[in-house]
Amino acid sequence: MDSQITIRKAELKDISEVFAMLQELSAFEKLPQNVKISKETFEKDFIEKAFTSFVAERSDGKLVGYTVSCQAYSTWEGRVMSLRDIYVKPELRGTGIGRKLFITTMKDGYKAGCNSAFFLVLDWNPAVKFYKELGATDITEKENYHIFKVLTDDFVKLCTSTE
Ligand SMILES: CC(C)(COP(=O)(O)OP(=O)(O)OC[C@H]1O[C@@H](n2cnc3c(N)ncnc32)[C@H](O)[C@@H]1OP(=O)(O)O)[C@@H](O)C(=O)NCCC(=O)NCCS
Repeated sequence: MDSQITIRKAELKDISEVFAMLQELSAFEKLPQNVKISKETFEKDFIEKAFTSFVAERSDGKLVGYTVSCQAYSTWEGRVMSLRDIYVKPELRGTGIGRKLFITTMKDGYKAGCNSAFFLVLDWNPAVKFYKELGATDITEKENYHIFKVLTDDFVKLCTSTE
Protein backbone atom coordinates (compact mmCIF):
# COMPACT_ATOMS: atom_id res chain seq x y z
CA MET A 1 0.00 0.00 0.00
CA ASP A 2 1.12 3.56 -0.71
CA SER A 3 2.85 4.79 2.47
CA GLN A 4 1.17 8.17 1.92
CA ILE A 5 -2.22 6.58 2.72
CA THR A 6 -3.45 6.46 6.32
CA ILE A 7 -6.30 4.24 7.47
CA ARG A 8 -8.18 5.70 10.42
CA LYS A 9 -11.61 5.85 12.03
CA ALA A 10 -13.93 8.37 10.41
CA GLU A 11 -14.75 11.57 12.26
CA LEU A 12 -17.77 13.83 11.87
CA LYS A 13 -15.82 16.14 9.52
CA ASP A 14 -15.36 13.19 7.10
CA ILE A 15 -19.03 12.29 6.77
CA SER A 16 -19.78 14.51 3.73
CA GLU A 17 -16.93 12.92 1.78
CA VAL A 18 -17.94 9.42 2.88
CA PHE A 19 -21.50 10.16 1.77
CA ALA A 20 -20.20 11.26 -1.67
CA MET A 21 -18.20 8.00 -1.91
CA LEU A 22 -21.20 5.85 -0.94
CA GLN A 23 -23.05 7.44 -3.86
CA GLU A 24 -20.11 6.53 -6.13
CA LEU A 25 -20.30 2.95 -4.84
CA SER A 26 -24.03 2.67 -5.59
CA ALA A 27 -23.37 4.04 -9.12
CA PHE A 28 -20.59 1.43 -9.55
CA GLU A 29 -23.11 -1.25 -8.52
CA LYS A 30 -25.54 0.18 -11.14
CA LEU A 31 -28.03 0.89 -8.34
CA PRO A 32 -27.78 4.67 -7.76
CA GLN A 33 -31.52 4.86 -7.03
CA ASN A 34 -30.99 2.64 -3.97
CA VAL A 35 -29.45 5.42 -1.85
CA LYS A 36 -32.61 6.73 -0.24
CA ILE A 37 -31.15 8.41 2.83
CA SER A 38 -30.01 12.03 2.88
CA LYS A 39 -26.58 13.21 3.94
CA GLU A 40 -28.25 14.70 7.04
CA THR A 41 -29.69 11.32 8.06
CA PHE A 42 -26.33 9.64 7.47
CA GLU A 43 -24.63 12.28 9.61
CA LYS A 44 -27.21 11.97 12.39
CA ASP A 45 -26.87 8.17 12.38
CA PHE A 46 -23.07 8.51 12.58
CA ILE A 47 -23.37 10.84 15.58
CA GLU A 48 -25.77 8.37 17.23
CA LYS A 49 -23.25 5.54 16.58
CA ALA A 50 -25.60 3.48 14.36
CA PHE A 51 -22.51 2.44 12.36
CA THR A 52 -18.73 2.63 12.37
CA SER A 53 -16.70 3.92 9.46
CA PHE A 54 -13.01 3.73 8.55
CA VAL A 55 -11.49 5.97 5.90
CA ALA A 56 -8.35 5.88 3.75
CA GLU A 57 -6.78 9.35 3.72
CA ARG A 58 -4.14 10.74 1.35
CA SER A 59 -1.35 12.91 2.80
CA ASP A 60 -3.12 16.03 1.49
CA GLY A 61 -6.21 15.12 3.55
CA LYS A 62 -8.36 13.87 0.66
CA LEU A 63 -10.29 10.68 1.36
CA VAL A 64 -9.85 7.90 -1.22
CA GLY A 65 -11.76 5.00 0.34
CA TYR A 66 -13.98 3.94 3.21
CA THR A 67 -15.81 1.15 4.99
CA VAL A 68 -19.11 1.23 6.85
CA SER A 69 -19.96 -1.55 9.28
CA CYS A 70 -22.21 -2.25 12.25
CA GLN A 71 -22.95 -5.07 14.65
CA ALA A 72 -25.66 -7.67 14.30
CA TYR A 73 -26.49 -10.59 16.58
CA SER A 74 -26.55 -14.29 15.87
CA THR A 75 -28.12 -16.81 18.25
CA TRP A 76 -25.50 -19.27 16.96
CA GLU A 77 -22.41 -17.09 17.22
CA GLY A 78 -23.23 -14.07 19.36
CA ARG A 79 -22.03 -10.70 18.01
CA VAL A 80 -21.31 -10.65 14.28
CA MET A 81 -20.02 -7.85 12.13
CA SER A 82 -22.10 -6.65 9.21
CA LEU A 83 -19.84 -5.01 6.62
CA ARG A 84 -22.16 -2.72 4.69
CA ASP A 85 -19.76 -0.95 2.31
CA ILE A 86 -16.16 -1.08 1.18
CA TYR A 87 -14.95 1.28 -1.53
CA VAL A 88 -11.69 2.60 -3.00
CA LYS A 89 -11.57 5.38 -5.61
CA PRO A 90 -10.99 3.89 -9.10
CA GLU A 91 -7.57 5.50 -9.69
CA LEU A 92 -6.13 3.86 -6.53
CA ARG A 93 -7.62 0.37 -6.82
CA GLY A 94 -5.23 -2.55 -6.85
CA THR A 95 -2.65 -0.82 -4.60
CA GLY A 96 -3.56 -2.57 -1.34
CA ILE A 97 -5.84 0.08 0.18
CA GLY A 98 -8.95 -2.13 0.06
CA ARG A 99 -7.13 -4.97 1.79
CA LYS A 100 -5.92 -2.66 4.55
CA LEU A 101 -9.41 -1.12 5.00
CA PHE A 102 -11.00 -4.58 5.14
CA ILE A 103 -8.53 -5.96 7.72
CA THR A 104 -8.66 -2.81 9.89
CA THR A 105 -12.47 -2.95 9.92
CA MET A 106 -12.48 -6.68 10.80
CA LYS A 107 -9.96 -6.15 13.62
CA ASP A 108 -12.13 -3.38 15.06
CA GLY A 109 -15.14 -5.74 15.08
CA TYR A 110 -13.04 -8.52 16.62
CA LYS A 111 -11.91 -6.17 19.39
CA ALA A 112 -15.58 -5.30 20.01
CA GLY A 113 -16.41 -9.01 20.49
CA CYS A 114 -17.58 -10.10 17.03
CA ASN A 115 -17.05 -13.74 16.06
CA SER A 116 -17.58 -13.54 12.30
CA ALA A 117 -18.48 -11.07 9.57
CA PHE A 118 -20.92 -11.06 6.68
CA PHE A 119 -21.68 -8.93 3.63
CA LEU A 120 -23.47 -9.01 0.26
CA VAL A 121 -21.74 -8.99 -3.13
CA LEU A 122 -23.41 -8.74 -6.55
CA ASP A 123 -22.58 -11.84 -8.59
CA TRP A 124 -20.89 -9.92 -11.44
CA ASN A 125 -18.63 -7.89 -9.14
CA PRO A 126 -14.90 -8.77 -9.46
CA ALA A 127 -14.68 -7.97 -5.73
CA VAL A 128 -15.77 -11.62 -5.21
CA LYS A 129 -12.11 -12.55 -5.88
CA PHE A 130 -10.93 -9.86 -3.44
CA TYR A 131 -13.11 -11.27 -0.64
CA LYS A 132 -12.16 -14.89 -1.32
CA GLU A 133 -8.47 -13.97 -1.18
CA LEU A 134 -9.15 -12.44 2.23
CA GLY A 135 -10.60 -15.73 3.46
CA ALA A 136 -14.36 -15.15 2.97
CA THR A 137 -16.71 -18.03 2.05
CA ASP A 138 -19.64 -17.67 -0.38
CA ILE A 139 -22.41 -19.11 1.82
CA THR A 140 -24.97 -18.85 -1.01
CA GLU A 141 -22.84 -21.39 -2.89
CA LYS A 142 -21.95 -23.44 0.17
CA GLU A 143 -25.19 -23.39 2.20
CA ASN A 144 -27.88 -22.39 -0.32
CA TYR A 145 -28.99 -19.32 1.61
CA HIS A 146 -31.47 -16.88 0.09
CA ILE A 147 -31.43 -13.30 1.33
CA PHE A 148 -34.87 -11.93 2.24
CA LYS A 149 -35.78 -8.36 2.86
CA VAL A 150 -39.07 -6.66 3.72
CA LEU A 151 -38.79 -3.75 1.30
CA THR A 152 -39.51 -0.22 2.53
CA ASP A 153 -43.13 0.09 1.28
CA ASP A 154 -44.05 -3.35 2.63
CA PHE A 155 -42.19 -2.64 5.87
CA VAL A 156 -44.10 0.59 6.45
CA LYS A 157 -47.38 -1.18 5.57
CA LEU A 158 -46.67 -3.94 8.10
CA CYS A 159 -45.53 -1.60 10.82
CA THR A 160 -48.41 0.84 10.50
CA SER A 161 -51.12 -1.80 10.19
CA THR A 162 -53.64 -2.09 13.02
CA GLU A 163 -53.09 -5.87 13.18
C1 LIG B 1 -13.17 -4.16 -4.00
C2 LIG B 1 -12.23 -3.03 -3.63
C3 LIG B 1 -12.69 -2.34 -2.35
C4 LIG B 1 -10.83 -3.64 -3.39
O1 LIG B 1 -9.96 -2.59 -3.03
P1 LIG B 1 -8.51 -2.47 -3.73
O2 LIG B 1 -7.78 -1.41 -3.02
O3 LIG B 1 -8.71 -2.33 -5.19
O4 LIG B 1 -7.93 -3.90 -3.40
P2 LIG B 1 -6.40 -4.29 -3.05
O5 LIG B 1 -5.48 -3.48 -3.90
O6 LIG B 1 -6.22 -4.23 -1.59
O7 LIG B 1 -6.40 -5.78 -3.57
C5 LIG B 1 -6.17 -6.91 -2.80
C6 LIG B 1 -6.32 -8.12 -3.68
O8 LIG B 1 -7.66 -8.28 -4.15
C7 LIG B 1 -7.66 -8.48 -5.57
N1 LIG B 1 -8.59 -7.52 -6.14
C8 LIG B 1 -8.88 -6.31 -5.67
N2 LIG B 1 -9.82 -5.73 -6.40
C9 LIG B 1 -10.08 -6.56 -7.38
C10 LIG B 1 -10.95 -6.50 -8.48
N3 LIG B 1 -11.72 -5.43 -8.71
N4 LIG B 1 -10.96 -7.56 -9.31
C11 LIG B 1 -10.19 -8.64 -9.07
N5 LIG B 1 -9.35 -8.73 -8.05
C12 LIG B 1 -9.30 -7.72 -7.21
C13 LIG B 1 -6.30 -8.23 -6.12
O9 LIG B 1 -5.94 -9.43 -6.82
C14 LIG B 1 -5.42 -8.04 -4.90
O10 LIG B 1 -4.56 -9.10 -4.76
P3 LIG B 1 -2.98 -8.90 -5.11
O11 LIG B 1 -2.49 -7.88 -4.13
O12 LIG B 1 -2.46 -10.25 -4.89
O13 LIG B 1 -2.96 -8.42 -6.51
C15 LIG B 1 -12.09 -1.99 -4.78
O14 LIG B 1 -11.64 -2.65 -5.94
C16 LIG B 1 -13.38 -1.25 -5.08
O15 LIG B 1 -13.65 -0.19 -4.50
N6 LIG B 1 -14.19 -1.77 -6.01
C17 LIG B 1 -15.42 -1.07 -6.40
C18 LIG B 1 -16.44 -1.06 -5.27
C19 LIG B 1 -16.82 -2.45 -4.82
O16 LIG B 1 -16.98 -3.36 -5.61
N7 LIG B 1 -16.99 -2.59 -3.49
C20 LIG B 1 -17.39 -3.83 -2.92
C21 LIG B 1 -18.90 -3.95 -2.96
S1 LIG B 1 -19.44 -5.53 -2.42
